[in-house]
Parts: sequence; structure tokens; C-alpha cells
Amino acid sequence: MTDTVSAEQEHREAELVERVARSFDNCADPRLKQLMTSLVHHLHAFVRDVRLTEREWSKAIEFLTSAGHITDDKHQEFILLSDVLGISMQTIAINNEAYGNATEATVFGPFFVEDSPEIPVGGDISAGASGEPCWVEGTVSDSKGQPVAGARIEVWEADADGLYDVQHDDGRTAARGHLFTDAEGRYSFWGITPTPYPIPHDGPVGKMLEAVGRSPMRASHLHFMVSAPGQRTLVTHIFVQGDQLLGADTVFGVKPSLVKEFERQLPGSPTPDGRAMDGAWSRVAFDIVLAPAGT
Ligand code: BEZ
Ligand code: FE
Repeated sequence: MTDTVSAEQEHREAELVERVARSFDNCADPRLKQLMTSLVHHLHAFVRDVRLTEREWSKAIEFLTSAGHITDDKHQEFILLSDVLGISMQTIAINNEAYGNATEATVFGPFFVEDSPEIPVGGDISAGASGEPCWVEGTVSDSKGQPVAGARIEVWEADADGLYDVQHDDGRTAARGHLFTDAEGRYSFWGITPTPYPIPHDGPVGKMLEAVGRSPMRASHLHFMVSAPGQRTLVTHIFVQGDQLLGADTVFGVKPSLVKEFERQLPGSPTPDGRAMDGAWSRVAFDIVLAPAGT
């Protein structure tokens, strides 16, 4: 609260906040009541703190309206807004509490697709996506160090042009798939070496980033979602060590524990599965530890 308002003005503003908060007194659902009351307190605190002008509020309404207009079943501008304000990552942090050495979670993003193709361990998710091949391998274990056999691993990534398959308009399915860990909890697959790409920035969120001098770029990453009975489902990515954007990921998704060395391999160097490879490729190891369900 600014210290320049009179006592009468302060009284009027504070009285309104309390009156609005009290309007939820009869809400039968205690959690909904808590959420609405707290939201009102925080929103009013913001409006009063910055002494919001009517013109600014009207601009904000215009912004939200255009976010609504650009949103459809393929484009979710409100999730993008939540992402670039760090709200997605904060919610993830609160809901995936640290548990022993369990792998950290990060932002889900808008490009996961149900019913991705199944590949065998050692298979290839690329399906013709542009990019340098990358061998990904690791294990899935529980927090006691026991291998988790049959864990479902969903993986998805952008191609070297910075686009997910669903952003191409030809209906392709590429650079995504799922596989299951073997009896020793091991997995491996061929994907493509991640490269940086911008989040969709053709809408109001992109305009806001431009207005505040922020880049829409995400650090290079490969998405994972790992699930197994009795374990907390993990949604995460791995990031590329040395990527210039690690400190500037526009959705604040980078965590040091998720930054991995993607070792570049010279053209012609032998591959783990004997596949003939003309050009350069890379390899990365990612061992995943799941927290127990309900933690
Ligand atoms: C992604 O990594 O796919 C992503 C995450 C947040 C916003 C946009 C894209
Ligand atoms: Fe992504």
C-alpha cells in the first residue's frame, strides 16, 4: 500500500477488500472458500500496490480476451501465460515435493499427445523427424534403488526445425513414442539431439514477452513422462549441458539435476546397437528415480 493515500482513502479501499472477501462466507466448500478469499486478498493487494489505472485494467482485460480468442483445442494461450509467469513451475514444485533422490519434475508443456506409437527397448521414435540422431539410455528405479520393470516411458521432442510434429500441418507423428522398461528396469531408444526452439509466440503472450524484452526461447530439451504402479508419475525433461539458454529458459523449467551431457560422437563411430550411422550422432544417459505414489 502506498503511503501517499489519506486515512479515509485507506479505509475505503480496505473496507472493500473485506466486504468482497466476506461475500464467500456462506461457501459450503471450505477449500473453494479458502481459494476465493485468498485470491481476492492477493488481487486487491496487487491493484492497490501498483495503483492500477482504469486504462491499465482495460488493457489487461483486452489481453485476457485475446488470449481467449486464440485458444482452441490445439493452442492453449492460458497455459502459455501460466508457463512464462512461472506459475506452472511453482505449482509443479508444490505438488512434487522433494523425496529422497527422486528425479525432479518440470513443466509438462502443450505438446504431449495421448496414444503415441509404442517402440521396443532400443527402438527409434524419430519417424523421419529432422535432426541429429541421439541414443538415450538409462534405468528406472524406485526410491529404495530397486529397478522398476515395466515402467511406461513417454518421450516427445521438437525436431531440428524447432517444431513438434503437431505443429506441422501434415498430420505426421514423429519424434514421440512410448516404451516399457525391461526386467532390470533398463530402457534405451534412438531420438534426436534436442535443439532450442521458441514457445508459440504468435499470440498475446508473445506480444507481452516482446514488450518486456524477454525471449520466447526454451533451452534444448527432451520430454519424459514415466509411470508405474505404486510410483508417483514423473513429468520431466532432460536438458543439454552447455546450451546457452540454460539460464534463460522462458518457462523457468531448467533444474541443474536435469542437465545432462549429450556426448557428441564422430561420424562413423560405432553405435550401441550396431546401427550404421553416416553422420555425427550423440548419446546421453538418464537414470530415473521415482518417488512412491502419494508422496
Ligand atoms: C514445451 O516444452 O514443449 C513447452 C513448454 C511450455 C510452453 C511451451 C512449450
Ligand atoms: Fe518442449
